[in-house]
Amino acid sequence: MPRLPIYMDNHATTRTDPRVVEAMLPYFSEAFGNANSVHSFGQRAAEAVDQARLQVASLIGAEAKEVVFTSGATESNNLALKGAAAMYRRHGNHIVTTQIEHRAVLDPCRRLERDGFHVTYVPVDRFGQVSLEEIAGAITPETILVSVMLANNEVGTLQPLVEIGKICRARKVLLHTDATQAVGKVPVDVGALNVDLLSLSAHKMYGPKGIGALYVRRGVRLEPILDGGGHERGMRSGTLAVPLIVGLGATCRLAFALYPEEPKRLRDLRDRLQDALLDTIDDCTLNGHPAERLPGNLNLSFAHVQGDALLMALKNVAVSSGSACTSASVEPSYVLRAMGVPDEAAHASIRFGLGRFNTQEEVDYTIEEVARCVRHLRALNPMREFAQTQG
Ligand SMILES: Cc1ncc(COP(=O)(O)O)c(C=O)c1O
Repeated sequence: MPRLPIYMDNHATTRTDPRVVEAMLPYFSEAFGNANSVHSFGQRAAEAVDQARLQVASLIGAEAKEVVFTSGATESNNLALKGAAAMYRRHGNHIVTTQIEHRAVLDPCRRLERDGFHVTYVPVDRFGQVSLEEIAGAITPETILVSVMLANNEVGTLQPLVEIGKICRARKVLLHTDATQAVGKVPVDVGALNVDLLSLSAHKMYGPKGIGALYVRRGVRLEPILDGGGHERGMRSGTLAVPLIVGLGATCRLAFALYPEEPKRLRDLRDRLQDALLDTIDDCTLNGHPAERLPGNLNLSFAHVQGDALLMALKNVAVSSGSACTSASVEPSYVLRAMGVPDEAAHASIRFGLGRFNTQEEVDYTIEEVARCVRHLRALNPMREFAQTQG
């Protein structure tokens, strides 16, 4: 019997790896200096920041000076979009993105629209992928930036970024990718992807919350959002969060060291969960791309069951559902909607996010529990029989 409750919501956040915590600890106490100070306390902090910058850069194939530390991916996305829009406005006022981006991209886009920019939201297919033709077709002479996420946070679908990068290069348009869910899980190389800007966040890859980075390709300039002491090459002022930065560096070093064995282990565990649930539960469908998908992601719809009810029934397994409560109603996920998943199936969806600390024993327990809860909820649902008699 595994230790309960089981955490299987690693797209929402991850437990900080104890090795990362250990690396951070000295920087709260004896090595507490301000990385900008010239004395020995400052220099020790500055050296740690330099090392962390290199560790982040190494994981994504960048140069250390191309890494700008931020408070997380929300800030990285805001800086990329608003910073590029303000800096390159004289070249055009059009941005291309997709319908399934995280709100940390969609909401800055909405604000830019209110400020006079035009934004095209490219649709996706039933697997959650954009088509290269649609991206190429959306670019106009006014386009200054394309922003396409590397991996989706709900269904895990990976986008064809290498090809999108080639299109953007040829059309001389900047390319940003929100790689928050992908970095540390699949190989990410800014050179191979041809991206100019890339967002990442520590707490999605076994690091602390409140720290992330934006990769800014050499030569690309951004208008800062925060003005102040001119830190981070003037792009992000504010005293550097040394312990968190050390944590992000250690996170990246570990992800690098555990590659490719750990993603393979995760994929095997995920496939075990997927195969067992699809085999044992009737009317259960996969949301997302069957192959081009994050190794730890599994998003399933269980017909005739409300995702939220299943979430509550699964007392000992922490997962999330494809519906979001707004003040007025329960809305199905806009990502599943954009993929053409019917509202009923979207309401019936559950996202499993497997991570570094999940074991096979936990997966096997989860299989039993999900099957038991789905059976129980279906037995309580009179509409099910009705739906079956209606064919
Ligand atoms: C794809 C994606 N982008 C951005 C974010 C925001 O990241 P952070 O919590 O670091 O601000 C998340 C987190 O949910 C995400 O999944």
